[in-house]
Amino acid sequence: MQRRNFLQLAAAGGAAWLAPKAMAEEFPMVVAGTDHVDMGHSMPMPAAAMQANGALPPLPPGEHLPALPRLANEAAEAGHFRASLEAAPLQAALWGDSRQTAFWAYNGSLPGPLIELWEGDQLEINFSNRLPQPTTIHWHGMPVPAEQDGNPHDPVQPGAQRQYRFTLPAGSAGTYWYHPHPHGHTAEQAFRGLAGAVIVRSKDDPLRHLPEQHLLFSDLKLDADGQVAANEMADLHDGREGQYLLINGTWQPMIPLFQGERQRWRLWNASSSRILKLALPAHDVQLVGTDGGLLAAPQTIDSLLLPPGARAELVVTGRFRDGVPAGLISQPYRRGKMMHAEQQQDEVVAGIMQHGLKPTQLLPASLRAIAPLGAPGFRRRIEFSENMADMSSMFLINGHSYDMNRIDGTGKVGRIEEWELVGNAHMDHPFHLHGTQFQVLARTVDGLWEDETFLAWRDVVNVAAGQSVRIRFVQHLPGLRMYHCHILEHEDQGMMAQIDFLAE
Ligand code: C2O
Ligand code: CU
Ligand code: CU
Repeated sequence: MQRRNFLQLAAAGGAAWLAPKAMAEEFPMVVAGTDHVDMGHSMPMPAAAMQANGALPPLPPGEHLPALPRLANEAAEAGHFRASLEAAPLQAALWGDSRQTAFWAYNGSLPGPLIELWEGDQLEINFSNRLPQPTTIHWHGMPVPAEQDGNPHDPVQPGAQRQYRFTLPAGSAGTYWYHPHPHGHTAEQAFRGLAGAVIVRSKDDPLRHLPEQHLLFSDLKLDADGQVAANEMADLHDGREGQYLLINGTWQPMIPLFQGERQRWRLWNASSSRILKLALPAHDVQLVGTDGGLLAAPQTIDSLLLPPGARAELVVTGRFRDGVPAGLISQPYRRGKMMHAEQQQDEVVAGIMQHGLKPTQLLPASLRAIAPLGAPGFRRRIEFSENMADMSSMFLINGHSYDMNRIDGTGKVGRIEEWELVGNAHMDHPFHLHGTQFQVLARTVDGLWEDETFLAWRDVVNVAAGQSVRIRFVQHLPGLRMYHCHILEHEDQGMMAQIDFLAE
């Protein structure tokens, strides 16, 4: 099957879930300040009747991996990107029948539209909030001025609008995403469907000759009525995982690949808390990029650990080796959950369809230059800890629960900082820093420091239970920057802090 056909099929076949605008249906806005939305009236069948019919059938597995819908650029001038984003309730027919599930979505699509940009672009996003809660748009990983970065200090109230404006500097090509970051409601807004991908491209991209696949992972947890489940106590503790790991809004999609073909895959982990350990045992896989763009050189890998919030770029070469599953596998990874079982076995999260033969295209041995950051002008120690005795402040950074009105430190723009991230905890906590990208220098493995074997730009690094990780970075723009655990339930419960970076 030709790629063109595949895309057409995806557009048709994915429509049920990718809910185009026409399917978007209002549900009543509730009084601002309450979090409860009554969705009862929109159910096609009363909940009681549905329960009487027994458990819901599983979601239909996807056919082809649907392409992420693109946000259209409305600007006529070169170097400008102008578009509107609206966060609003959406009803989607997950089973392709009359059953409707209530979501919150950007521009009526699950996940939100892909924003494709070029280095140097000036962005203008006109955002309107039609949710029953305050929200913001955070430009995760991008070098965005603090006052444009969707900090919880800058909420957009229900019914209100705002403009986000920023310019992408040279060298910022990479794989980013956007999601809400309001005080206390980030997890809920994200798990109800608010998340979208961003790709920043560079004119001299050494991999531009490779066809791309985009895989945005999210976690869907449904209740007995087929609605997005509320978080339970156990979710607040462990971080929420769902019954369904979705890719581009579909469950277990099929990805076409030719024998010998090289594809560039961009992956986003937009789930609340799931640490993905992904493998393609039947194929050759090289890691070519991390959160902040390309590596210096491809790295051959057996598996990829992708914590929540993180992104990666892979080059996948179709090999279809015998005796191993051809698909994309999620391998067990123990992240220290206490109230849910850990995954025990390999699970196929996407199938790979073989499509004949293709010549293998070149993969350059070097991708770009990455200079190591030099000696730090300032050091900090950042400790993640858990306080199980106090339900109101269970997840802490340096002994504190987040306070929007407390500044946890000051820094200087342009100065190299070195942070030691310490996981004094029973669970893994993926660390994320706003506003810039960092380099990982070393991590402890069973208590012993091991130097990182290659340079990469990242904005998320997993800090496993008992582990320490050393990073360096520079903030190039002034302002208040959050850092937090990207298990969104932990972030909302206070595992976040903020430093004010002052211009020199
Ligand atoms: Cu993706 Cu502060 O978050
Ligand atoms: Cu961020
Ligand atoms: Cu955490």
